[in-house]
Amino acid sequence: MQNEIGNEVAIIKEKLLYWRRHLHEYPELSFEEVETSEFIYSQLKKHRELEIFRPTKTSVMARLIGNEPGKVIAIRADMDALPITEDNDLLFKSKKHGVMHACGHDAHTAMLLGVAEILVGLKEQIKGEVRFIFQHAEELPPGGAQQMVDAGVMENVDQIICAHVRSTMEIGKVGVLAGPVLSSPDTFSIKIIGSGGHAAKPHQNIDSVIIAAQVVTNLQQIVSRNIDPIDDVVLSVTQIHGGTALNVTPGFVELSGTVRSFDPNLRKDIPAQMERIIKGITEAHGASYEFEFKNGYRPVINDEELAQVVKDTVIDLYGVDALGEIRRGMGGEDFSAYLQKAPGCFFYLGAGEKNATKNYPHHHPKFTINENVLPLGVNILVNAVMRLMMK
Ligand code: NI
Repeated sequence: MQNEIGNEVAIIKEKLLYWRRHLHEYPELSFEEVETSEFIYSQLKKHRELEIFRPTKTSVMARLIGNEPGKVIAIRADMDALPITEDNDLLFKSKKHGVMHACGHDAHTAMLLGVAEILVGLKEQIKGEVRFIFQHAEELPPGGAQQMVDAGVMENVDQIICAHVRSTMEIGKVGVLAGPVLSSPDTFSIKIIGSGGHAAKPHQNIDSVIIAAQVVTNLQQIVSRNIDPIDDVVLSVTQIHGGTALNVTPGFVELSGTVRSFDPNLRKDIPAQMERIIKGITEAHGASYEFEFKNGYRPVINDEELAQVVKDTVIDLYGVDALGEIRRGMGGEDFSAYLQKAPGCFFYLGAGEKNATKNYPHHHPKFTINENVLPLGVNILVNAVMRLMMK
């Protein structure tokens, strides 16, 4: 079986390159993936075996239903690009100024098209259903995943998997984690409201700059002093805006930033802890405040059993050395929306050059991938699906 799949993957390698390069040349921003989703639809349409749907305006979902009953296994790829101007010399460099596939979602889409093509060829062996989810807008909150879930793509799904390329991990390595993988990227904004006036007469004003500075410093106490050091939490103030002139004390200062965590209880508590500090400091100095906390994507937590199946698949195909060292990270991913409906596994495919002096990180204008990751990813995804189906 594995050899058969491996041969099939080798046969479609040129197609994988064509798909990826075409998508790379014509990137589209989140929620604007009109041509991208049309392209996906037109490629899937070639297979009469697939039932194809458009769950939202710029997404695509396809179902491959086997002859025998069984589980429903979903695979997800995202397809949106970023507002970045590409700085690579490639024959298939982005043709859209200011838009670039700088996170590898072009590769994800190409791989899932390849997985669909191969599984269509193996239809006789399919038990249950394989569902292909081509999702829009991963990069821009509120994200496309929740919209896909709301549109019903997860109905009856038993398990879901997803592979993400990683430019900073060597090609040939695969990173699979059980449990927490990516955090919940929440955001906040704070307005410190004092009373402005002449900077030479501080006694007549309530100085929002000084109060804001104390708020910024004291918020750091939450992570360093209120939370168990074993828990992973980040609290960063990333913006401070205030003031218009050298000799004017501003009436207000605006702060904003991000809070990231894994534990749902901590996630619930942190906004209250923040507000206690903001309230205390502003009150102490006669100022007032406005505070808004917005929950972002939920954390991505992999199912232990599924992660093991993916690991076993990688070991069987490429040996134990193919499993790369990996740690959970404080980034976020809206794949977590699907995990509310079914257990899943989000894993990484190394796509960095082996001996490169520098592999540029994701979201960088010089981001690239080693395209050998395409057949490798297809091979792992197809084999993982077949393994899950038999289990
Ligand atoms: Ni991404």
